[in-house]
Amino acid sequence: MRHFLTLNDISKDEILDILNIAKDIKKETLNKEYKPYLKDQFLAMIFEKSSTRTRVSFEVGIQQLGGKALFLSSRDIQLGRGEPIKDTARVLGGMVDMIMARVYKQSDLVELAKFSGVPVINGLSDDFHPVQLMADLLTLDELGLDIQNMKVAYIGDGNNMTNSWLMAASKLGFELRIATPKGYEVPQWVKSIALENAKSSGAIIQISNDPKEAISGVDVVTTDTWVSMGQEDEKAKKIADFAGFCVDKSMMSLAKDGAVFLHCLPAYRGYEVSEEVFEAHADEIFREAHNRLHAQKGVMVWCDRIRYE
Ligand code: CP
Ligand code: NVA
Repeated sequence: MRHFLTLNDISKDEILDILNIAKDIKKETLNKEYKPYLKDQFLAMIFEKSSTRTRVSFEVGIQQLGGKALFLSSRDIQLGRGEPIKDTARVLGGMVDMIMARVYKQSDLVELAKFSGVPVINGLSDDFHPVQLMADLLTLDELGLDIQNMKVAYIGDGNNMTNSWLMAASKLGFELRIATPKGYEVPQWVKSIALENAKSSGAIIQISNDPKEAISGVDVVTTDTWVSMGQEDEKAKKIADFAGFCVDKSMMSLAKDGAVFLHCLPAYRGYEVSEEVFEAHADEIFREAHNRLHAQKGVMVWCDRIRYE
């Protein structure tokens, strides 16, 4: 049974396959043609953390594919009262066809996958946000970038989005430059996986604490909140430590002329991005948000197609 827990579990060709499924289904969706690729299938959606885009894209997505979604907040199910993940997994696996989960610990997703007997999709963990990356790649492809040969700068916190960009770059072979403040770098184990993958994909990975150097001449700039879900207590310290890392007009002017700016959202203006840069790139950012629907359909249909491999 295959799962969608990190892009590191998926080959470059499989990432491109998922994008192709998403593109085809997007065309049909925009023509109001809703083909029942997942007819009568049930998707359980477990949320330990808040969500707007992930919840709505999976819930609308599965219904447009002919299935149904169950929203399971961990506050309301027995998991939140201490029922073991492996028991929850075995119960759900006998009743639903697929599980999407947003959790703190990546190891909880691994446990769900091990015990459920149905495909499990990572809807964000402290370590990775791979379904977001699929929407980001779909968006960049639509905007005319060659996603196997582009230069991307990630400026900000070393977090689940940074880790996911590292997996994407190192699998697909594009150039990724990451600049974080000192003390907020990506973990060594993620860096090691990316550098190992890069040996075969040819990806160029640069990791530094210098945002101006990282952004210089790139095709795509991206960032994310400095305070991820679960880190609220660190907010004041992080804001102080991230001085000089806001993607504002002067920072953005160092990227290539016409560079794309992406943000997975929610965005905090005046912190990781200025209001001016955000609004100047709103078309790209909301295309990215809307592509969550199409990319997530691609992921679900792919999980169903390869379910018995
Ligand atoms: N980008 C993203 O995952 O948004 P939500 O937290 O709203 O799902
Ligand atoms: N890094 C952010 C992403 C939100 C979609 C978080 O984990 O809160």
